[in-house]
Amino acid sequence: MSLIQLLDFKALGDSRGQLFSIEGSKNIPFEVKRIYYMFDMEKSTPRGFHAHKELKQVAICVKGSFKMLLDDGTHKHEVVLDKPNTGIVIDKLIWHEMHDFSDDCILMVIANDYYDENDYLRSYETFIGYLGDL
Ligand code: TYD
Repeated sequence: MSLIQLLDFKALGDSRGQLFSIEGSKNIPFEVKRIYYMFDMEKSTPRGFHAHKELKQVAICVKGSFKMLLDDGTHKHEVVLDKPNTGIVIDKLIWHEMHDFSDDCILMVIANDYYDENDYLRSYETFIGYLGDL
């Protein structure tokens, strides 16, 4: 599986405004159990800095822009997300960091499971160690 998996959502808007639709297991690769969203982020305060043992997510920059760094333990890649029609898959066992939020950034994340702190690998050393034990 490639490290960077971008999803392109079809624009359904018209003269009345923009519209995008996310449907579990149709235009994202899993059933949806949770949605969370963030805004009013401090530009200079990055977030994330963890990986998940099992959770799969798709992040969509609904407004503004930010940078997403993905790292599978071997390769790292940073992507600018600045379009509401683009989702980026954060697969399980991918270390991720979010940087450089624009003032107007609204970030929506869709997840295939409920919040579970036990699913987090919250230090890079723990992440690399967990990969080594698989
Ligand atoms: P945190 O994991 O620190 O966010 P980020 O990945 O952006 O660094 O989450 C912040 C707090 O919110 C933390 O106490 C966990 C809690 N939280 C939930 O309760 N439910 C959720 O769905 C998420 C994503 C976080």
